[in-house]
Amino acid sequence: MNVLVTGGAGYIGSHTCVELLNSGYGVVVIDNLCNSNPESLNRVQKLTGKSLTFYEGDVRDEALLRRIFAENEIGCVIHFAGLKAVGESVSIPWKYYDNNLNSTLVLTKVMEEAGVKDIIFSSSATVYTADNEMPLRETSRTGNCTNPYGWTKYMTEQILSGMAFADKAWGIVLLRYFNPIGAHESGEIGEDPRGIPNNLMPYITQVAIGRREFLSIYGNDYDTHDGTGVRDYIHVVDLAKGHVAAVKYVENHKGCEVFNLGTGIGYSVLDMVKAFNEANGLNLPYKIVDRRPGDIATCYADPAKSVEVLGWKAEKNLMDMCRDSWNWQSKNPKGFA
Ligand code: NAD
Ligand code: UFG
Repeated sequence: MNVLVTGGAGYIGSHTCVELLNSGYGVVVIDNLCNSNPESLNRVQKLTGKSLTFYEGDVRDEALLRRIFAENEIGCVIHFAGLKAVGESVSIPWKYYDNNLNSTLVLTKVMEEAGVKDIIFSSSATVYTADNEMPLRETSRTGNCTNPYGWTKYMTEQILSGMAFADKAWGIVLLRYFNPIGAHESGEIGEDPRGIPNNLMPYITQVAIGRREFLSIYGNDYDTHDGTGVRDYIHVVDLAKGHVAAVKYVENHKGCEVFNLGTGIGYSVLDMVKAFNEANGLNLPYKIVDRRPGDIATCYADPAKSVEVLGWKAEKNLMDMCRDSWNWQSKNPKGFA
């Protein structure tokens, strides 16, 4: 079966293409390269020894999507394409609503015309409200998003679940990711953010490689074991395997289901710095600074439903994540450039 992967040249998409190809699926990618480099797809093909089909273009381009469905026998879609910078979404909200919502609307319209009704969507733990008890379950409260990016994820979940309710032929899987880090163990593909990284691990690796002076730790006065923020970091290869499990699931189950993809373990920022140093024999310089607006103290998943229903479980540990992140960055000091 061929899987159409929107945003397949990006960080999570490229790792998922590797796992799909290794599991015997055909892969067709559409990506407009607004946040990625096509070299990632060359590396995917080199790593797997298999080829994929790439269309450079925008998911909102209805004519191009029709052509892709006409030229390829697609059985299922994984929809990664989207903008994801939280801060930018606050300053340019229209860009986020246009890109993230219209891409889904155009994509599902063309899927319906083509008679393809299985879709896996990249949602996020950001859809959970900040006042939930930990760990977060799929039934925990959602909404009250604090930025337009989060609202696009919340609204897309509403759009897709409404479609599945109205037409029982749709098979829809909403995957709520926790904090993906790490890279393929080969060091051939990994996260290559543009500009100054917002997220913790790419910032850490850029400090380690000498592109940034020190890590700023945003607050040490949270109600956590050491005062720094706690998150559920998940290895990107485990996350990619979760998508293969979802593709298999949706072949046999229609309706709309939501799954957390996390490990169930929370680590603090200081835990991460310590683990990164230990895994790689480094001594990362850092400073404690003020809290970052919008951050919460603690966020981690209950992954039990994914384990039970998808038969998927994160297998890699924190040392793997820290080692693979650094392996990628040290082999590619400037990313794919
Ligand atoms: P990424 O930016 O590396 O990948 C997204 C890809 O989509 C990029 O290659 C980009 O060029 C492409 N793209 C964006 N808009 C497009 C459009 N209109 N048409 C065609 N291509 C388009 O990001 P990622 O980290 O791989 O994230 C993938 C998905 O997972 C995103 O939807 C993101 O919101 C979601 N997600 C990511 C995280 C995370 O921490 N990385 C957490 C939760 C959810
Ligand atoms: N942090 C620092 N210094 C930095 C960067 C981050 O101390 O330079 C801290 C943050 O304060 C937080 C932790 O590291 O405590 C993780 O921060 P990230 O920015 O890496 O991740 P977030 O949990 O804030 O957000 C990420 C994605 C969101 C997504 C969310 C849940 O960026 O898009 O996970 O999936 F919604």
